[in-house]
Amino acid sequence: MERTKILVTGGAGYIGSHAVVELYEAGFQPVIVDNFSNSQESALTGIETILGVKVPFHRIDCNDVEAMRAVFAEEGSLRGVIHFAAYKAVGESVQKPLEYYHNNVGSLLTLVQVMREFGVEALVFSSSCTVYGIPDALPVTEQTPTKKANSPYGATKQMCEDILNDVAVAPGNKLRTILLRYFNPVGAHASAQIGELPLGVPNNLVPFITQTAAGLRQELTVYGDDYDTPDGSCVRDYVHVVDLAKAHVVAVQRLLDGKGATVETFNVGTGQGNTVLEVIRTFEQVSGQKLAYHVGPRRAGDVPAIYADVTKSVAELGFKTTATLAEALQSSWKWQQHLQAING
Ligand code: NAD
Ligand code: WQD
Repeated sequence: MERTKILVTGGAGYIGSHAVVELYEAGFQPVIVDNFSNSQESALTGIETILGVKVPFHRIDCNDVEAMRAVFAEEGSLRGVIHFAAYKAVGESVQKPLEYYHNNVGSLLTLVQVMREFGVEALVFSSSCTVYGIPDALPVTEQTPTKKANSPYGATKQMCEDILNDVAVAPGNKLRTILLRYFNPVGAHASAQIGELPLGVPNNLVPFITQTAAGLRQELTVYGDDYDTPDGSCVRDYVHVVDLAKAHVVAVQRLLDGKGATVETFNVGTGQGNTVLEVIRTFEQVSGQKLAYHVGPRRAGDVPAIYADVTKSVAELGFKTTATLAEALQSSWKWQQHLQAING
């Protein structure tokens, strides 16, 4: 039987590469578009090693409307799109707002236009818990009001959500969309063939931890232990990237089955919050490494605590995470060791 083709923009990236693997293993035919602006060809090799087949790949910029048209024309019979391609560094977005608005909002506009031209009607969009800002109550549901973004990156996610909500109610619209609001993705594929590849000094907690344990960084700074949380450090909902990838398979299937409303929003998290110090302790347990860290000042812009209410995604999307934090951190550590082995 012919596999159903799904275009995966940003499919060489951290989350996209895991989604490509899960899509293929669920019987879909993923087709990757990426310009390697924040990824490397090695991700494609990793995917091939895991799956034992080459996944079709187009090295193009999603903002290039002619190139996107050429991909849709060449591939033919695309049934849906998962749009991961975006810039994602919060701090950098403050330095380069125009680049972020152009890449993140512009690529969505181009994509939706080309999808319409080619009659492709199913879209899964990568949104983020960043749209909730500092929430007034925890856990956050999909009904929790979004707050004014505190970075251009966050603003691009809110704008993209607004655009897709507006498109959904426009007369004659055929596009059906699922907005997935990811909490904090961590971990790597169990094979350690794909994982997160941060360029330069990582901003995110888990890559910083694994690089410190591997001796690439001297010491981790815990950004504050005076928050109103169980141990004073910030609380996040850390979701295993393989679980997160599976949420996309479920979402695509839901769209293709014609279930649900024209546009729907789901949180993708575990429903559990963990502090930074808990993450460190869990990492130490699973890796057997003592982590060098000290507590420093708060980081500007940090949300003190956020985690997902997953009632809606369980009940309506039929999606639930299965991995524990320990399993996720163990896979991150295995991936770090794989990187050490190949990079020396
Ligand atoms: P990533 O940077 O690893 O992956 C994004 C991929 O898109 C990269 O491979 C990059 O080269 C590619 N890309 C960027 N702009 C492109 C363009 N114009 N044309 C073609 N390819 C382009 O990031 P990720 O962590 O995998 O994130 C994927 C998506 O999920 C992003 O939209 C991000 O904003 C969103 N998200 C990420 C997180 C997180 O913490 N990682 C959390 C919430 C939401
Ligand atoms: C996690 C926790 C830090 C590094 C960011 C984006 C968000 C989303 C996910 C895309 C925080 C603490 C971190 C360090 C530390 N991305 N920390 N020392 O800030 O929750 O979210 O990525 O949509 O939009 O803002 O993730 O991994 O940077 O931080 O103590 O060296 O770890 O303070 O509490 P964050 P993070």
